[in-house]
Amino acid sequence: MREFNEDTLTQEVVARLKKANDPRFRELMTAAVKHLHAFAREVHLTEEEWFEGIKFLTAVGQKCDDKRQEFILLSDILGLSMMVVALNHKTQPGATEATVLGPFFAHGAKEYGYGADLREGATMKGEDVWVSGTVRSVDGKPIPNAVLDIWQAKADGIYDLQTEGEFELRGRVKANEKGEYAFKSYKPKFYSVPVDGPVGELIRATGNHHMRPAHMHAIVSAPGYQQVITHVFVEGDPYLDGDAVFAVKDSLVGKYENVTDAAEAKKLGMPSPFVKLSWDFRLAPESGVKARKKIAASDAVA
Ligand code: BEZ
Ligand code: FE
Repeated sequence: MREFNEDTLTQEVVARLKKANDPRFRELMTAAVKHLHAFAREVHLTEEEWFEGIKFLTAVGQKCDDKRQEFILLSDILGLSMMVVALNHKTQPGATEATVLGPFFAHGAKEYGYGADLREGATMKGEDVWVSGTVRSVDGKPIPNAVLDIWQAKADGIYDLQTEGEFELRGRVKANEKGEYAFKSYKPKFYSVPVDGPVGELIRATGNHHMRPAHMHAIVSAPGYQQVITHVFVEGDPYLDGDAVFAVKDSLVGKYENVTDAAEAKKLGMPSPFVKLSWDFRLAPESGVKARKKIAASDAVA
């Protein structure tokens, strides 16, 4: 058949996908073509608009390098990342909820034990925080020797990966035999997602803000349990409603308490006053719902 028009073209493009061997690939491509064509028809896409779209996607690709991932950012601000998390990570009752990975995770962070000081080598100071808790199974039993990959932005709202230099405010913290972990860091502050690229331009055009509420990131892993990629947000943060990447869940909001007791500060090796977050993570057994593919410690630095 030749001479396709807006009513017959979609069917023909889909028909040509039937030769593809991989059934899942065929399914994905068929749906993508159908939805893309339907979009063009619905808005009666003009050639100028279509070319603007191509220019935008080209700019997104050109902004990417081995440290900057503008496509992940685009997926995040369109809510697609959280949609994929929601579809693939149905939380088992009692388990810590998952949320976006974001573009600033890095493999190869330094390994630490109980009481680790993630402020080591920090180029900027913040409010000193002692974070501690237990990694538990959904039934409340402590899980021995879990590993927590922790990362967060510096006091200026910029991640170490966004600038030249060493890793900062990140580490792989090993919990002890009783599932207990603890580390020193700085209290996270709200920050802007990167807006110096095409995605920033897109956000500005929508009239929305580009802020994320304060949070630390954690990937918690233990043999026999589903790995969870999550955040702990800061209670009272002004951006909890309206996170630019839709990642907030009420169950992930933690209370950071001000501690003025000098004896407690001394016992923990903290300055006085300091801030404390007590936070347990709960993992579902591996045999439960289909888990996310695990991020392995042995993977090369991205
Ligand atoms: C982050 O939390 O690091 C992040 C997540 C999505 C987009 C930008 C940053
Ligand atoms: Fe973040």
